[in-house]
Amino acid sequence: MTKPRVLVVGGTGRLGQYISKASLEQGYPTFLLTRSPLGTDESKTALIQSFKDSGAIIVEGSLENYESLLSALRQVDVVISPVTESKLLDQLKLVEAIKEVGTIKRFLPSEFGTDPDKVLHALEPSQKLLFGIKRQVRRAIEEAGIPYTYISSNCIACFFVSGLAQYGQFTPPRDKVAIYGDGNTKVVWVDEHDSATYTLKTIDDPRTINKTVYLRPPANILSQNEVVEIWEKKIGKTLERTTISEEDILKRIQDEGFPVNVDLATFHVIFYKGALYGFDMGPNGLDSFELYPEVTYTTVDSYLDRFL
Ligand SMILES: NC(=O)c1ccc[n+]([C@@H]2O[C@H](COP(=O)([O-])OP(=O)(O)OC[C@H]3O[C@@H](n4cnc5c(N)ncnc54)[C@H](OP(=O)(O)O)[C@@H]3O)[C@@H](O)[C@H]2O)c1
Repeated sequence: MTKPRVLVVGGTGRLGQYISKASLEQGYPTFLLTRSPLGTDESKTALIQSFKDSGAIIVEGSLENYESLLSALRQVDVVISPVTESKLLDQLKLVEAIKEVGTIKRFLPSEFGTDPDKVLHALEPSQKLLFGIKRQVRRAIEEAGIPYTYISSNCIACFFVSGLAQYGQFTPPRDKVAIYGDGNTKVVWVDEHDSATYTLKTIDDPRTINKTVYLRPPANILSQNEVVEIWEKKIGKTLERTTISEEDILKRIQDEGFPVNVDLATFHVIFYKGALYGFDMGPNGLDSFELYPEVTYTTVDSYLDRFL
């Protein structure tokens, strides 16, 4: 069977680069839409060159340039959009273009985190600026009748496991660790490569049409305390614990400016309100582990080995 041609919008980004790589690795003809074709942005040259060397077709364009979207969409079958958070709403243009072209068999919008339809209780400003916009894009896709898959990647390891969920820290602490509340809320932690691997597996899988796929590697459904304990065992040392009470984080959300307040409100719904686990997935929800048991995923335990 011929593999569908994939367009990645945002394929040079923090998550998008793993998606581009997985698309190429899984043998999909891969097109990358970027505002910075080779040679125009020094910081991206090596990355884009490596994708090109692996067979990617680089397409110049942006969400603001409607004609560039139409032209790119006419060359592909599937669109994955791990586009940056500040441009989430601009995906409405992409939705419009996909509808106009009429040949796209699957669209995966920029999600890859917490299911926005499951966090109606999240606080501002993430409710309005992150989850609200992601919901708005979902509704536009559904209204346009575009076949979709929503990927709920939960806590991506390079952002969350690396620093034991310390905000803004990306290596594990060796002396002190701050714990959110009692630290016992169950959270789902997903390696960034695995998130991309599962994402690409869904795109021509008939089971995942118009579904939300929750990435839930069973060994990675762990509380913050459990993740800290795994690290402590590795370094043979007990960290000094401080507690960030719910009141503390609510105050910080109020005091901080954008975008830190959006991030902290997201931490709040994940670590205090348990937004990632323990809810009913509903008839449109699918578990990645049940769909793709053959994937050998990276456990939190093995992920942390890189920091020893
Ligand atoms: N679950 C988690 O732990 C987690 C963590 C972080 C992010 N996320 C989610 O993942 C998604 C992607 O976030 P990210 O942080 O990876 O994104 P990012 O690195 O900030 O940006 C990704 C891409 O956006 C593209 N882009 C920016 N403006 C554009 C425009 N006007 N037109 C077309 N493309 C444009 C850039 O492409 P070029 O520069 O090549 O043009 C870049 O490759 C978001 O939905 C975010 O909420 C989840």
